[in-house]
Amino acid sequence: MEQAPNPDNALSAYHQRRLLLAARMRLAGGGVALIPTAPEQARNRDTHYPYRADSYFQYLTGFTEPEAVLVIVAGGGEAESILFCREKNAERETWDGFRHGPEGAREAFGFDAANVIADLDARLPELLAGQPAFWFSIGQDPTWDIRVTTALNKVRSESRTGKRAPPVIRDVRAELDAMRLVKDATELAVMRRVSEISCSAHIRAMRFAAPGRFEYEVEAELLHEFRRQGCEFPAYTPIVAGGANACILHYVGNDQPLRDGDLLLIDAGGELSGYASDITRTFPVSGRFSGPQADIYDLVLDAQAAAIAAVRPGANFADPHSAASKVLAQGMIDMKLLTGSLDAVLESESYKRFYMHRTSHWLGKDVHDAGEYKEGEHWAPLAPGMVLTIEPGCYVRPAEDVPEAFWDIGVRIEDDAVVTAGGCEIITAAAPKRVADIEALMRDARGG
Ligand code: GLY
Ligand code: MN
Ligand code: MN
Repeated sequence: MEQAPNPDNALSAYHQRRLLLAARMRLAGGGVALIPTAPEQARNRDTHYPYRADSYFQYLTGFTEPEAVLVIVAGGGEAESILFCREKNAERETWDGFRHGPEGAREAFGFDAANVIADLDARLPELLAGQPAFWFSIGQDPTWDIRVTTALNKVRSESRTGKRAPPVIRDVRAELDAMRLVKDATELAVMRRVSEISCSAHIRAMRFAAPGRFEYEVEAELLHEFRRQGCEFPAYTPIVAGGANACILHYVGNDQPLRDGDLLLIDAGGELSGYASDITRTFPVSGRFSGPQADIYDLVLDAQAAAIAAVRPGANFADPHSAASKVLAQGMIDMKLLTGSLDAVLESESYKRFYMHRTSHWLGKDVHDAGEYKEGEHWAPLAPGMVLTIEPGCYVRPAEDVPEAFWDIGVRIEDDAVVTAGGCEIITAAAPKRVADIEALMRDARGG
């Protein structure tokens, strides 16, 4: 759970973000923003999926109860932050747990005002009336689209009394995505911590894996370590893929036995206080890479090193991918996976047969985080505080024109990079990835 910010401190990071959002709204003419949290989701009959607050809402509030809405009024003067949340209810709190209630939430989280969520529909028309713009995530949730449209129509129906609905509707996510793309110090501290936890989970998996164990047993070790160290959830369903399963990019069956001589690809990260880690390691089930496995592995590691070297301010989002693709393409030619010159392979993109995904995505609250990648023809420039993954791979499916020694080898190596003034900081470096380091760790776990 995210901690309620201490109101005695200087402005909390959440409060600062609300003020910044309001300032950005004012620059674009002002107005009122409405940011609802996520709905609870039924799983079956009366059982629900574990609740997770909406990322935008968390980012601005730190408030993790369901049935809550943030309203920001960015007018001429100070911004006003108003929370709508569930009321205190002794009986419901006995069954389901603590609720802050509006007054408690206002005090603990530093809102200017708070109301019960049951009053939202009645209050919305007056909050909207006369505002120059309504800032909302239109199209994200049809239920909310109807709810806000109803409120707008209510204002319009009273136009004879001089009330005016906002003439402009803007997507508040555009402002929030731009803000979320560059992480502040509070966010980076959490991301470093969730990285540490996730690295220790990968180390635990390397120590545990052995021929005859099942993929789901390794998954259980990962989940145990995430939870033991305070993560609320895995950030996404772990991929624990032995042997040929590593060549299925989104393999989540995790139900097969591990075989001597196979590699094991694990793509897993924890989520802590609403922030994701995203790490992939690939290692031999037996503890020793075969020659062809080590060849492919070292090629992917070299590609990753080239991509990491391309992460720095002034570079753009696509530069790490270009660097990794070039190394991979040359290696594929050298290993006789592909024929032709490097230029021809890059030009025709024939390397995509073995490397079909991109090298990076933004990382933050969402594993594929908010933020634009491209504007028109221009890739997003990298700047300090941005966080992206660096995850090249090579996946060789059996085929007549492919050397048999490489069949069914699938390797991905994924780390998380924070762009810094001088380059980048790899916050997931604690999980070993050099062949010698992985083999030494596994040997040590097996008693030498
Ligand atoms: N685990 C999802 C990804 O690597 O993008
Ligand atoms: Mn990733
Ligand atoms: Mn991943």
